[in-house]
Amino acid sequence: MSEIASARALLQTVVAFYAGAGRKGDAGAGLMLDALRADLLRAAPASIAPRTITAAALLPAALPSTELGAAIAAATPLLRWRQNPNYSAASMGAAFMAGYGYVEFAGPKDALFHTPDVRVGLLVLAAGLHYPLHAHPAEEIYHPLTDGGLWRRGDEAWRAVPAGHAIHHPPMVPHETRAGDSTLLALYCWRGDTTTEARLTR
Ligand SMILES: [Fe+2]
Repeated sequence: MSEIASARALLQTVVAFYAGAGRKGDAGAGLMLDALRADLLRAAPASIAPRTITAAALLPAALPSTELGAAIAAATPLLRWRQNPNYSAASMGAAFMAGYGYVEFAGPKDALFHTPDVRVGLLVLAAGLHYPLHAHPAEEIYHPLTDGGLWRRGDEAWRAVPAGHAIHHPPMVPHETRAGDSTLLALYCWRGDTTTEARLTR
């Protein structure tokens, strides 16, 4: 498959996931997923240079045996790995920075497809890492692609969310995540203010 074809196939697989299997989970996610699909179907391919980071090595072994996992695997050579510019070894610790990263399939910058108003990407968090409480103005939905992680919104209790179930974060609601005994992968999408990055809230 050509590079453009594997990127296009990945985007189409995400759109199908948001229309079907990805509807399970938090109430409130469905409206955003519908709006997102419309944005993604209009997205134009972008030309980006692939880039790797330490955490990228965790991806292949963690990918699930699903259609989405296979589509991500096929597009892996195209991916441009990134980290939130607000995070550093000084603020997060060296172990976090070595085991954390993300790639974007669609977004305003450094993504496979250009979409000014939405971001869709994949988060990688190494086994045992805690992504501490943070917030951002964009509305967000996470879909864990792996089991074993723990998720928490604000002062709610930690909860185990099965792979494929939606986790909804309204704008500026603080949230945090703990990877379990294996690499955590999660598909995420943002809608609204796509250019203000997350910041730690304590
Ligand atoms: Fe978030």
